[in-house]
Amino acid sequence: MDSSESRKPLDQLPKESFWDNPLYQWDGFWYRAGHLDAAMALRSQYTARHDDVILASPMKTGTTWLKALCFCIMRTQPQEEDAQKIDEGTLVKSDDGEDPLVKNHPAVYVQTLEVQVFTAKQPLDISGMKSPRLFHTHLPYSALPDSIKNSKCKIVYIARNPKDTLVSMWHFFNKLRTPEQGPYPFDKAFECFCKGVSHFGPFLDHVLQYWNESLKAPDKVLFLKYEDLKRDPKGHVKKLALFLGRPFTNEKKVEEVIWRCSLERLKNLEVNKNGVDPWVGMQNSAFFRTGKVGDWKNMFTTEMSERLDHITLQKLEGSGLHLDI
Ligand code: A3P
Repeated sequence: MDSSESRKPLDQLPKESFWDNPLYQWDGFWYRAGHLDAAMALRSQYTARHDDVILASPMKTGTTWLKALCFCIMRTQPQEEDAQKIDEGTLVKSDDGEDPLVKNHPAVYVQTLEVQVFTAKQPLDISGMKSPRLFHTHLPYSALPDSIKNSKCKIVYIARNPKDTLVSMWHFFNKLRTPEQGPYPFDKAFECFCKGVSHFGPFLDHVLQYWNESLKAPDKVLFLKYEDLKRDPKGHVKKLALFLGRPFTNEKKVEEVIWRCSLERLKNLEVNKNGVDPWVGMQNSAFFRTGKVGDWKNMFTTEMSERLDHITLQKLEGSGLHLDI
């Protein structure tokens, strides 16, 4: 196992094809070459502060939603110790003109460390950023810098059932294909995912690592599930705010945050209908689709469903984790 910051050259790492592009395996997980370089830079250069908040997720599990929610909570909710001092009425801006989410995609406010900050050539200087800093990463727990693991900074993770994750991923990566190429064959995507080959995958290992950490250190790692947030947004947004040390005292504010960050609202904002992400050139609209739990039923055959359920149950056996399959 190679877990040092200086990894082997790419041509000495195990390689697999994902959507006809190469992914490389490092320390048990699969990465695009650029993400791997960024991960190495992040591991050697990131200095965590005790009040940093790191959001973590596999791809397509509700990252954008989590980014919007945490950004909104941290912007509008006072920290517990300040709550008494501040006039609550002044905190929540209720007209759209004041809401930064109207102007930009949530990823502009909560940047992904290995995509937007530690880009291979020139990492951004984040040392002067005002606290508390809010970042996101797709890196597995084992690949996080020690500085994050050993500091008091908090981690919020979002998982999703593997079948909806795969379908969401399939739609997302198809957006990068030309009309001539057409959609990538779903059965090939399925085989890849079952083998554990996907960006930052194996998906189930990624989820399990953070799950186990959340059991070991519940004050440090909050483990959320997309389906739970959908089923009971109020309960889970309150839990999230409490974990971030910014508890809600007013039900109306919880409802306001939920509405501001809802798929229906974000999806229909001009910036998300027509804007383009400046980092990878993706249409912002690609991050907002149906948000349905159980959308996998439109793509999976019965055999596929049974096979992935079986892999999931085997992997999660004894962990106490259930992924709403
Ligand atoms: P679907 O493709 O199933 O619709 P990520 O943000 O990790 O890339 O995940 C994208 C998935 O989250 C997509 O799922 C997308 O529609 C959904 N999503 C994006 N914003 C959301 C929001 N505000 N509320 C609920 N789901 C959201």
